Amino acid sequence: MNVVVLLGPPGAGKGTVAEVLVGKGYIHVSTGDLLREQIRLETPLGIKAKKLMDGGQFVPDDVVVGMIRDLLKDSAFGTSYLFDGFPRTLVQAEKLAELLQTLNGTLEKVVLLECPVETIVERLIGRRTCGKCGSVYHVTFNPPSKAETCDVEGCELTQRADDTEETVRKRLKVYTEQTAPLISYYEAEGLIQPINADQPINDVRADVIKVLG
Ligand code: AP5
Repeated sequence: MNVVVLLGPPGAGKGTVAEVLVGKGYIHVSTGDLLREQIRLETPLGIKAKKLMDGGQFVPDDVVVGMIRDLLKDSAFGTSYLFDGFPRTLVQAEKLAELLQTLNGTLEKVVLLECPVETIVERLIGRRTCGKCGSVYHVTFNPPSKAETCDVEGCELTQRADDTEETVRKRLKVYTEQTAPLISYYEAEGLIQPINADQPINDVRADVIKVLG
């Protein structure tokens, strides 16, 4: 089993990049999407997670590590995973290393999407998502053919509850405090591959595909 981690602040474009890598054989695993599914199903975990996520805070490490452990334990030999939004604390990074060691998996690369703060705020405030198929749009940078309507499902697009300017700035603060330390952690292991994410979507995607060979 091989793992590539997409690291970067909220709104850097992790999900947008992941969309094209799925077509290249990777299984996309977004802990944010897994948690939003729990919210949609109104499970006890989803109810607890919703409060934290809407406030821009992280869900506890043991919860997300448990989700990843469940997912990896039944992996077929040779599966390639693309992790989007995991790990995002040092504890999660250490737990991932332990899990991969137990399962004979390899962390191949950590792709770091770098993007200035004000660009991120603009991207997240303008993001729109399809509740049915999960397609992600931007009102200006990646608009659907018909305003506020999903190209795939034809239904009305929605805005994520944590995409208000106030919550976006809180998420950025949490990223700086809890996730940014992973950059030097993975640099020390020679795994970091920085990418300029402040370019048009197709250029960012092409750069990521290049570094992943
Ligand atoms: P999660 O869903 O992972 O959110 P995030 O990391 O904050 O990242 P986003 O999904 O907001 O942004 P993205 O980088 O994927 O950007 P996107 O491609 O959509 O997590 C949500 C919450 O869940 C967390 O806050 C936390 O509470 C919890 N959680 C999740 N994982 C956890 C964990 N491991 N531990 C603890 N808690 C966890 O792009 C954004 C917008 O920009 C889109 O509109 C897109 O169209 C546009 N765009 C993208 N790229 C470009 C570009 N190059 N140019 C112009 N526009 C672009």
